[in-house]
Amino acid sequence: MTSEHLRTVVVDTPGGRYDIQIGSGLLQNPGTWAGLPRTTQAVIVSNPTVNALYGDPLAAAIAPLHREVSRVLLADGEAHKTWDSLNLVFDHLLARACDRKTVLYALGGGVIGDMTGFAAATYMRGVPFVQVPTTLLAQVDSSVGGKTAINHPLGKNMIGAFYQPARVVCDLATLGSLPPRELSAGLAEIIKYGPIHDMAFFDWIEAHVEALRAGDVQALAHAVQRSCEIKAAVVGEDERESGLRAILNFGHTFGHAIEAGQGYGAWLHGEAVGCGMVLAAALSAELGLVPAAFVERLTRLVQASGLPTQAPVMPDERWLELMRVDKKAEAGAIRFVLIDPPGRASLRSAPDELVLRVIHRHSAPVASAA
Ligand code: NAD
Ligand code: GLY
Repeated sequence: MTSEHLRTVVVDTPGGRYDIQIGSGLLQNPGTWAGLPRTTQAVIVSNPTVNALYGDPLAAAIAPLHREVSRVLLADGEAHKTWDSLNLVFDHLLARACDRKTVLYALGGGVIGDMTGFAAATYMRGVPFVQVPTTLLAQVDSSVGGKTAINHPLGKNMIGAFYQPARVVCDLATLGSLPPRELSAGLAEIIKYGPIHDMAFFDWIEAHVEALRAGDVQALAHAVQRSCEIKAAVVGEDERESGLRAILNFGHTFGHAIEAGQGYGAWLHGEAVGCGMVLAAALSAELGLVPAAFVERLTRLVQASGLPTQAPVMPDERWLELMRVDKKAEAGAIRFVLIDPPGRASLRSAPDELVLRVIHRHSAPVASAA
């Protein structure tokens, strides 16, 4: 795929209007960067893994736009999505006397994207930033829509801001170096768009899951484009999650509890979401909103994507405590994104006994993510 096959999705929110560019080889294509601010300084925020692969090509590509391009590398992994890492970005910016026109480039997966976005939102009360997502998960979800955050030991993504990027550049060629486990994690966030919004897309994913796992570029291009179109439509209607946007959290109430409860990084975010969607679908079935056959169908697709469908065993009180700090909770009541019917989602609470029954039915004694 060359840049003639470039696909563009527009995100239009009160906080900013910008393009998501999707194609193979975009990093090296000068056209990708046209129209971005020309400034004295730019900083690439990345980690050692991704920088070794794509740091030099990105630095070379954006060199014509900036007099000085520097890099700050943060430790790799969800366990490092913390204040300490964020502070390293601020240390770097201040030590170089970066002004408020400085552009930050987030080169990496969702961890780097979320932290760079938060740094951009807060450094000098806001500097422009560009998302250059290099994982499937980041290309189909986290780089789009302006949610930025770091974790707190008591809750996932609890400290953050809404802040839109100036552009999102999804170079599909970067997915070629992604480990299979990370590719599977990205599939979870693609699958979620089916039950919440578009069951025809769900049918398509079922038919193409093997191609996607094999890294077929045409299949990936369609999956990234359709996911971004759906996310752009939802975020365009409800940038700050006053209602509709919560549907993008299908599977996340259970998933975030798994991530925090097992220790950040033990389960990949996408693995926890994959398993969480099975539990949320099962809860929807318990409430009579979807047939049991739908839960079986979703479970088969999550499994076929290489993702776990059994939650880890945790004490009941621990589950409830973790889910109560979810951002969707209101006045201490846990709220779940439930499917009603397949293709449509809504935010609801459910009796604790029912939630725990679903968890017990879908837990395995040994955590099975890795
Ligand atoms: P990640 O950022 O940890 O990346 C996964 C791993 O892949 C890392 O080790 C990374 O170094 C490596 N990697 C990245 N690109 C690579 C490449 N091209 N080749 C080889 N290795 C590569 O994880 P992720 O799954 O991308 O993102 C998960 C994070 O995203 C979570 O923190 C989650 O909360 C967040 N998230 C945010 C939103 C949002 O709307 N902001 C949405 C979904 C998820
Ligand atoms: N990933 C959930 C959201 O962007 O709202």
